[in-house]
Amino acid sequence: MFPGAAVSTGKVDSAFFFIVASSGLLLLLVTAMMIIFVVRYGHRRRPHPQPVKDNVALEIVWTVIPLALVMVMFYFGYVDFEFIRNPPAGAMPVQVTARQWSWLFRYANGREDDVLRVPLGRPVALSMTSVDVLHCLYIPAFRIKEDCVPGMTTHLWFDADAAGTYEIFCTEYCGVGHSHMRSQCIVMPAADFDKWYAAPEEAGLAAAGLKILKSKGCLGCHSIDGSRKVGPTFKSLIGLQQAVTAASRARTVTVDAEYVRQYVLRPNVDVVKGYQPIMPNIPVTNEDLDAIIGYLETLR
Ligand code: CUA
Repeated sequence: MFPGAAVSTGKVDSAFFFIVASSGLLLLLVTAMMIIFVVRYGHRRRPHPQPVKDNVALEIVWTVIPLALVMVMFYFGYVDFEFIRNPPAGAMPVQVTARQWSWLFRYANGREDDVLRVPLGRPVALSMTSVDVLHCLYIPAFRIKEDCVPGMTTHLWFDADAAGTYEIFCTEYCGVGHSHMRSQCIVMPAADFDKWYAAPEEAGLAAAGLKILKSKGCLGCHSIDGSRKVGPTFKSLIGLQQAVTAASRARTVTVDAEYVRQYVLRPNVDVVKGYQPIMPNIPVTNEDLDAIIGYLETLR
């Protein structure tokens, strides 16, 4: 029905459509019987109803048929659930960290990214946790979904069977940035993936800064393209004249390297006009800050 996504897609869809189709048939049957009975046994035709007593054959039929039907549903559900729960041996492991409000994907070789890149035709096993509140990783195209729980590791796996870009959503309400907690699963031809996986990471201060922003989850709340998220965008941030409120007094500040540095170390001292004071304390070193500012300079 929805070709080209993952092996789990077909399995979940067939169970789903079986349940919808049998429920639809039952609905038609019950409605038709109801109408027939209303017409045939209505007050005008049969003013004196004859009570029916004991019909063993009928009772067996209406017990056995629904039982068989739900057992078939159970069978499909259970077999597919088993399949979805148990990753095959040799699946590529990826660690998933959920936090307010972004995803971080970490590969076996230490590579990290805020989008999930995977090779086509190779199963991927996700080990997931959260560092703050409950989140839930959902890839609709693959029909898979699982909670990310602080202090606990949960698992998901999939085997994508068509290259492409698929949406990842958080489907557990996790605070004001919940609706922004989105990412993508990029399924690449195996050769392209291997190339990306083995490529040395980009050198330089700005590249290091971007990497830190991704790995600390900053980009969950701050966009780099000017769009509005939970926090102000990073685009053209350095050099900006920004209206802020400090201790309920409004003032305008010039956002420069020093301001950014102080703000990260002591968040919410100033509150940017139109936003909430919800920036968390992110542990960063001075070198991290140098790199972050180096990157922000490139967005001027
Ligand atoms: Cu994370 Cu909703």
